[in-house]
Amino acid sequence: THVVSDNCIKCKYTDCVDVCPVDCFVEGPNMLVINPDECIDCAVCVPECPANAIFAEEDVPADEQHFIALNAELTNAPGWKTLARRHEPMPDADEWNGVREKLKYLER
Ligand code: F3S
Repeated sequence: THVVSDNCIKCKYTDCVDVCPVDCFVEGPNMLVINPDECIDCAVCVPECPANAIFAEEDVPADEQHFIALNAELTNAPGWKTLARRHEPMPDADEWNGVREKLKYLER
């Protein structure tokens, strides 16, 4: 599977969604995750993300390994829903793009 990591938080550009052939992205208040049961590892979303937040599972950086389990967990979290169409990024997405360790800001 592929995994959405820390830099998506507070950015949520959603460019990834438009290119996904299987609608595997699931949306929360300020982040998307990838449903590991739906992702076909096509990797087309990876270069589309302006925040470079998407990795193949085997390429997730050492300090972001916890996002592998978090993507699976949040896929089934209450209120999180499949997103099939791109929409406006979060306000101030460009200011938050590149800020490190945003997990403390994750809204569930
Ligand atoms: Fe997040 Fe990047 Fe998609 S910021 S919503 S993974 S385009």
